[in-house]
Amino acid sequence: MAQKILLTGGAGFIGSHTYVALKNAGFDAVILDNFSNARRDVTDRLEVITGTPVTCIEGDVLSESLLDRIFADHDIAAVIHFAAQKAVGESVEKPLEYLNTNIAGLYALLRSMRRAEVFRLVFSSSATVYGQPDHLPVNETAGRSFNNPYGFTKLVCEQSLEQIAASDDRWAFGVLRYFNPVGAHETGLIGEDPNDIPNNLVPYIAKVATGELARLSVWGNDYDTPDGTGIRDYIHVMDLAKGHVQSLDALLTSGAGHVVNLGTGTGYSVLEVLQAYERACGHTLPYRIAPRRAGDVACVYGDTRLAKQILGFKAELGLDEMCASSWNWVARRKNT
Ligand code: UFG
Repeated sequence: MAQKILLTGGAGFIGSHTYVALKNAGFDAVILDNFSNARRDVTDRLEVITGTPVTCIEGDVLSESLLDRIFADHDIAAVIHFAAQKAVGESVEKPLEYLNTNIAGLYALLRSMRRAEVFRLVFSSSATVYGQPDHLPVNETAGRSFNNPYGFTKLVCEQSLEQIAASDDRWAFGVLRYFNPVGAHETGLIGEDPNDIPNNLVPYIAKVATGELARLSVWGNDYDTPDGTGIRDYIHVMDLAKGHVQSLDALLTSGAGHVVNLGTGTGYSVLEVLQAYERACGHTLPYRIAPRRAGDVACVYGDTRLAKQILGFKAELGLDEMCASSWNWVARRKNT
């Protein structure tokens, strides 16, 4: 029988794509989501993509009684924990909310898992834990730091998992440090759908492409990079989803915990991403050069060797595929 996986935050951007990848890999999945940053029609769309009914429980990961009930009702083999708040700027304004959702939310989940004797967890971490790395590509042994409350929560969660794993060898954690996830499922039925004006680059460019926003502000062109704009390691969300399945496979088969980067290993500048999006949507996109954004670093891209070695993970989709799939999603979304 298919093993059943609980996806907290499974209706969100990365969670919904991972749901599809899990079903394709033969897993069964249960979604828990409070829909604070996800559209309610995501579950209908997942049913269309997978051709099977979706089990989705609406609720909060902070509710231990709800979590206990889910573990009692379902034979869960492992958990993938996406449910968290993720906007860097908002975290500066509302640190307590971020500390509570991201750190207390993880603790509530771990307590409930322990009661249910489920000891396998894949955790959504972030390349934000590296700050501005001294060496590029950044590998998993690099020093960790934080620049804002969001980054602080990811670091505390990683360190908490280390303490817990060291104290009790029944636990096994897959800590996945995401670089910059973009793109959408090939059907264009699910994708990234920020509630407000997007903070992140590709969702913002997407809204310029649809005409909802007038122009992109490029936050700084005086960095020490070839064209002066910031460089990041963008990874297609379907590649990222695949990484979760591979992490889960490793936890469930060998029981070996791991901490790995999930990126492509290639960095692209803001202007290179803009040009790729222009190729995808077929027209030029207006932009202006604006001052640097507070807290931004010049250049980050990941060393991908450990993920390849431990999980067999390799990102296969490039920047043009990321932008084309994003455009397919937003253009469809606008017309439906
Ligand atoms: N950028 C612009 N204009 C915009 C938005 C972004 O020029 O309107 C630039 C940024 O200055 C940066 C690049 O585009 O150089 C990427 O910015 P994003 O906001 O898309 O992504 P970040 O790299 O700043 O942060 C993202 C996530 C974090 C995560 C981090 C990990 O938002 O949660 O990647 O590397 F921690």
